Amino acid sequence: MRVEKVLAKKRDGRALSRDEIESLISGFVSGAIPDYQMAAFLMAAYIKGMDAQETYVFTKAMVESGEVVDLSPIEGIKVDKHSTGGVGDKVTLVLAPMMAAVGLKVAKMSGRGLGHTGGTLDKLESIPGFNVNLTREQFIKQVSDIGIAIMGQTEEIDPADKKIYALRDLTATVSSVPLIASSIVSKKVAGGADVIVFDVKAGSGAFMKSLDEAKVLAQELVSLAKNFGKQAVAVISNMNQPLGFSIGNSLEVEEAIDTMRGFGGADLLELCYNLGAQLMVKAGIVPTTQEAMGKLSEVLEGGRVLAKFTEMVVAQGGNPEAIEDPRGVLPHARFIEEIEVATAGYIRSINAEELGVAARYLGAGRTKLGDQIDYGAGIIIPKKAGDYVRPGDTLAQMHSNDPHMLAATSGLVNDAFEITAAPHEIPPLIYEIIE
Ligand code: URA
Repeated sequence: MRVEKVLAKKRDGRALSRDEIESLISGFVSGAIPDYQMAAFLMAAYIKGMDAQETYVFTKAMVESGEVVDLSPIEGIKVDKHSTGGVGDKVTLVLAPMMAAVGLKVAKMSGRGLGHTGGTLDKLESIPGFNVNLTREQFIKQVSDIGIAIMGQTEEIDPADKKIYALRDLTATVSSVPLIASSIVSKKVAGGADVIVFDVKAGSGAFMKSLDEAKVLAQELVSLAKNFGKQAVAVISNMNQPLGFSIGNSLEVEEAIDTMRGFGGADLLELCYNLGAQLMVKAGIVPTTQEAMGKLSEVLEGGRVLAKFTEMVVAQGGNPEAIEDPRGVLPHARFIEEIEVATAGYIRSINAEELGVAARYLGAGRTKLGDQIDYGAGIIIPKKAGDYVRPGDTLAQMHSNDPHMLAATSGLVNDAFEITAAPHEIPPLIYEIIE
């Protein structure tokens, strides 16, 4: 295959054949096709798009570039979820034990945070001792024994996506629907679950800034996953403000624990209930989402969700005292600075992306892979969009071990809040369910 001919074909907006796509992916993974040719392809695909058949073949070739996890030794229905990335998004920490508590099996591979969005592995690693590097045998055994395990994605899973994503990040080709959908679905298919819920974010903190764009992505994710024989559904949710009250690793674990105890923020719980109910219906363990919600509040209020989370923490070597006493045991920053409200009014919006970037400056995130994270760093926002605030109220609390960064970041945090004299209608958290 002449790679430049394939590039010209995509540049001119023509669809590629199965052979051409498969050769492109296998050649890139083996090193026969250099970065500059793949970068040219990605830009052409970004501009000209890929049709449904091309996207399917592209995704399949990515799945086949590595190992597909065989979850068949685990009895029961295996469920998975994927978020397109948000700020303050600690959903997995609550949703995964919720699903295990209702009897579904959660064999979940998660990622690390990059850019302004956080990652589940970093949050879990803020619990002293928590091990995300399980062997395949440990992973399967733990899910069989207690119904839940969360580990890091291994090098063997979807190596094509790792290499391609690294290039997309550097070539301004991330926000393309077929490229995002193939990247996400290839990892989920390789992860082996039967039922998948996609948590597609729309708004200032998300890849998809508008609801229309998010809908297109959600439809593509669901139909692509179904083409691989998966049960799939997407929930489109509002990422025009951070989810919950905290951004940053141990701060988010603390909030997740509070939520599992019944004291969490309404938005986090609402999203977990919606995602969980969709999974339960698609898995066929309840007939309606209403019934699913009833079951979910039963397990949450009965303490079974927190008990599952604790079982997982113990099984993966984490210190369970972090759950009993998160403020005492989880890492915390030495310096805390408050930003106060200057003028009374209603919070109209809280720019999630700006707060995500600010939390990264404070130490909570990475600029590039391999950067050290400060687990205690982050931001707490006690007030949310729609709330009325008075001068002197705390708008945000910044946590960091770097006093210079606190001073340098406070303007950015302050500017993330838009406060107006008159109240505004606040958009709903859940926009739409795409089946
Ligand atoms: N998340 C992914 O896993 N891949 C993308 O391309 C975008 C978000």
